[in-house]
Amino acid sequence: MNIAILSRNPALYSTQSLARAARIRHHYVRIIDYVNCDLIMEDGNLTISYHGQIIEDIDAIIPRIGASHTSFGSAVIRQFEQKGIFTTLSSQALLKARDKLTCSQILAAEGLQIPRTIVSNNTIMYRDLLDTFDDNIVIKLINGTHGIGVVLAESKGQAESILEAFNKTKQKSMMQEFIAESNGADIRIFVVDQEIVGTMKRQAKEGEFRSNLHRGGSSSVEPISEKEKEVALKAVKHLGLEIAGVDMLRSKRGPLILEVNASPGLEGIETTTKVDIAGRIINFVERNVKAGEYA
Ligand SMILES: Nc1ncnc2c1ncn2[C@@H]1O[C@H](COP(=O)(O)OP(=O)(O)O)[C@@H](O)[C@H]1O
Ligand SMILES: [Mg+2]
Repeated sequence: MNIAILSRNPALYSTQSLARAARIRHHYVRIIDYVNCDLIMEDGNLTISYHGQIIEDIDAIIPRIGASHTSFGSAVIRQFEQKGIFTTLSSQALLKARDKLTCSQILAAEGLQIPRTIVSNNTIMYRDLLDTFDDNIVIKLINGTHGIGVVLAESKGQAESILEAFNKTKQKSMMQEFIAESNGADIRIFVVDQEIVGTMKRQAKEGEFRSNLHRGGSSSVEPISEKEKEVALKAVKHLGLEIAGVDMLRSKRGPLILEVNASPGLEGIETTTKVDIAGRIINFVERNVKAGEYA
């Protein structure tokens, strides 16, 4: 079949890994820089033009949308959806997962445990709201990623200053209970089509609480409990995702979901677990684009 990977950069590990997995399985692969797609809307007809040529004959898309292009990326996905093309990530699920506020609302509403979180636009209320937490408080940008925009305040005063600074620069943020007992570690659970295909633990480097590999964290294979599996699968389902990286903290009151990544990186999880996750993703596409629909 003809598979389009929506990616800004063909040289990225995840893009390469997916392209290789698809080609090994005898599919044609096109890597499309979605930011440079032109979306054409006419009565009853939606088309996508790329470098002046209409994109045709695509059987499935695998979107890998970067955090700074969520809005336009989801519009490009929607254009393909309207044409009835199979996508491994729906435009709606991307929008829900990318926004830490929306994601927290959905998970909490479904009864899944998350660190206690408050979002407020009222600077005069900050102090009162902060007083409902212990002294250590995490402040994070709602649209942050790779650990950038996640700050640990060690006092209410510090937390208030950080919130004010984010507010002043018009960046939406949230205050969150700090889970000290996770000791700078979190669990990444990779899900493809309602199946857990890889799990790893990420440990923050010395003197750092953020375990992101982009922030110098290290990863190792980590088995997870039945409860953790159940929680991860539920979270992915409620967000409407088929491929996701669920981040979880181990706390005194059980597993807490931190976030669910809609375009989870493959490098960390594939090199750590040695599982061919890109292959699993292509198999998932194959199951959904039925034989006979493509040559
Ligand atoms: N409430 C918290 N308590 C303890 N550690 C946290 C908390 N929130 C985030 N962290 C740490 O910071 C990292 C980045 O936070 P996360 O919310 O996943 O943001 P990002 O989208 O930037 O990765 C997490 O992987 C975790 O190690
Ligand atoms: Mg994260």
